[in-house]
Amino acid sequence: MLDLLIRHANFPDGQQDMALGIKDGLITQVGSDIELSECPAAQAFDAGHHLLSQAFVDAHFHLDSAQRFGQPRPNQSGTLREGIALWAELKPSLTRESIEQSAANYCRWAIANGILAIRTHVDISDPQLLAVEALLAVRERFKPWLTLQLVAFPQDGLLRHPGAQENLIRALDMGVAVIGGIPHFERTANEGTQSIEWLCRLAAERGLMVDMHCDESDDPNSRHIETLAANTIRFGLQGQVTGSHLTSMHSMDNDYAAKLMDLMVQADIHVIANPLINITLQGRHDTYPKRRGMTRVPELMAAGLTVAFGQDCVMDPWYSMGSADMLEVAHMGLHVGQMTGQTQVQQCYAAITTEPAAILGLPHPGLVPGAPADLVLLQASDPAQALRLRAARLAVFKQGQCIAQTPPRIAELTLGADKHQIDWRRP
Ligand code: FE2
Repeated sequence: MLDLLIRHANFPDGQQDMALGIKDGLITQVGSDIELSECPAAQAFDAGHHLLSQAFVDAHFHLDSAQRFGQPRPNQSGTLREGIALWAELKPSLTRESIEQSAANYCRWAIANGILAIRTHVDISDPQLLAVEALLAVRERFKPWLTLQLVAFPQDGLLRHPGAQENLIRALDMGVAVIGGIPHFERTANEGTQSIEWLCRLAAERGLMVDMHCDESDDPNSRHIETLAANTIRFGLQGQVTGSHLTSMHSMDNDYAAKLMDLMVQADIHVIANPLINITLQGRHDTYPKRRGMTRVPELMAAGLTVAFGQDCVMDPWYSMGSADMLEVAHMGLHVGQMTGQTQVQQCYAAITTEPAAILGLPHPGLVPGAPADLVLLQASDPAQALRLRAARLAVFKQGQCIAQTPPRIAELTLGADKHQIDWRRP
């Protein structure tokens, strides 16, 4: 007997009127509604021919700084540099409790929006590691509903900031799972190289994944991704290392970029672009034309690399916008990357579902038997419509339990004597 049978669902791959059987939190049966309609189940759920998808995964976020825009004052210039200065000013006033409370508020919002896994960087520049303590507590508290993967992130530089190396090791000893870095922010390119070597050696010794903020710059000579790829091979970390941002690749010479991408393929480096942030923070020194700043997403996908879109920021010192919405993130990525071809639209949807799941090392991405029943039901017929409409999250399932529901977006219009109903899926 199944715990739950979800009927009349559209799948992201285009299959329609499908059904999913769920038992003990896992998908156990997948087939057409006709095939599975007679399966005995304790509960049935009618998906109403809406899109049922693997839940969203946000592969790049900062939970310790989210929802702090305006503290201690708004970022007037909107630049990366003013954001870093504001965050440094704000940090000493933060308490473990306040970080924990705002992170918990964000996690609830994210779950309601269908995000059931987040890789969050946590700043380890503070010797007290209050943010690490707070986010580890939030990770435990939300474990039944949300996978939080923490990255030890030396925001102020691994070599540039006194004590960062010791703090990073302590954070790992406390249970932080992934090694972070920020080579382009070290004092010199040479120190950036040293930081990459130190971090990759540590990852190899401890058997941990790596995810570095890398080359978040418009400078085509910011080439730390090359060093990161080379050290990935040197330390045998293929498939375990992610380059986040990589915005300098946008401005690189095409010949150099082609050679670099070959090396990235050899190293099996994963890539995370953050389109909302890249489009707003990069190109700031340009007059016109202004560069978009996002890394070469379609080309990196075509090369066969695993590429995800991350959210990075929601209402923090760097970014006053954001809404815990991965469809908004992918919608921006699609536009910035000019990915309007129909296969590319599907790739943009995969970049917020299956691809980030693979980067985080989550089990069994996709709607297949054996996969966790971590699902989102959208007020849309297919992924293209979900992206276009930033569709309402009608239901969110964690291991087959419905944990969030949102009413469909339907407007009632009265135009004189005429009454109309506008359903966003079929206007
Ligand atoms: Fe980031």
